[in-house]
Formats: sequence, C-alpha cells, structure tokens
Amino acid sequence: MPIRTWMSAGALLWLLIWTGCGNQTAELPAAGAPPAVKTPVGPVPGPGTQPALALNPYSQHAEALTEGRKLFVWYNCSGCHGGHGGGGMGPSLRDQSWLYGNSDAHIFGSIAEGRAHGMPAWGTKVPEDQIWKLVAYIQSLGTPREPQPPQ
Ligand code: HEC
Repeated sequence: MPIRTWMSAGALLWLLIWTGCGNQTAELPAAGAPPAVKTPVGPVPGPGTQPALALNPYSQHAEALTEGRKLFVWYNCSGCHGGHGGGGMGPSLRDQSWLYGNSDAHIFGSIAEGRAHGMPAWGTKVPEDQIWKLVAYIQSLGTPREPQPPQ
C-alpha cells in the first residue's frame, strides 16, 4: 500500500479518536430541550429534513387522523406497509417495535428523510403539515383513536 494511503488512514484514525473523546459534553441536550433525532447508521436517502417543530401539532385532532389515513392510502404508503399499516414489503407500523424510534420527531424523520433499507424520502414531495398528519395517523394505529380500523 502506498505511503500516502497509510498517512491518510492514520490521520483518519486520529480524527476518530479525537472526535470520540472530549466532545461528549457538547452533545448533551439542554434541560427541557427536545430529544435529538438520531441519524441511523448507513446511507440515508434524501435530504436531511428536520421538522421545524419537535412535537406534532396534530396529535390530538380527530380530523387530522382521518386526513392522515387518506394520505396514507393516497401516497401509497399502504402499498409497502399494508392497508392498515400492518406490514408488507415495509415493516409493520402497528406493532410495538420501531427501527427508527416512535417519537413525533423520529417518525417525521423516517417519512421526510427516508430510511436506508427501502423507505423512500418524502420530504421534497409531501408538505410538512401532511407529514405531521401521517405521523398522527401512524401513532393512532391500534389505539381507540384509529380511524377506519381493520375489521
Ligand atoms: C417502496 C416501499 C415503501 C413505501 C412506498 C413507503 N415505505 Fe415506509 N418503509 C419502507 C421500508 C422498507 C422501511 C424500513 C426501512 C429500513 O429498515 O431502513 C420503511 C420504514 C418506514 C418507517 C419507519 C418504521 C420504523 O420501524 O421505524 C415509517 C414511519 C414509514 N416507513 C412510514 C411510511 C409512510 C408514512 C409512507 C407513505 C408516505 C411510506 N412509509 C411509504 C418501505 C416503504
């Protein structure tokens, strides 16, 4: 291996060590701050869209849930996640297990940014308020608030 490759590998290692130590306190969120949205390991398709709000403005709106349900079918989320989000080619959104977290901001991030293993990014196509309605709908799945639950 040429010497320059070794040198840059050494520099990279040093950088990893350097960034791994010392900077930890800077990452702690301030008290009362919303939790930081963790970026998944691996390539993330689409732009790094962050919601302007950390909490869903629609979480308590019954009408928004019904609209979220419509959007879920309209954008064909159901094509991959199942008619009622029970899973298909994409993972179930009704069960208790989450690959990327189930907080408002996490689900928003999954939809807006896309996720590495086959989840398209919607942030450039779907307006933010519609993404929030989808988040509200997804969080209602399996609860008494779910609009048009499976029979
Ligand atoms: C082409 C198929 C496809 C479509 C269409 C699709 N998804 Fe996904 N989705 C996936 C796959 C596959 C994953 C898992 C990605 C991974 O493991 O990295 C995923 C992951 C997710 C997650 C994260 C789940 C978790 O466990 O953390 C959410 C939320 C989600 N999708 C919502 C949606 C919504 C809302 C729509 C419609 C706007 C949609 N998806 C459309 C395939 C799809």
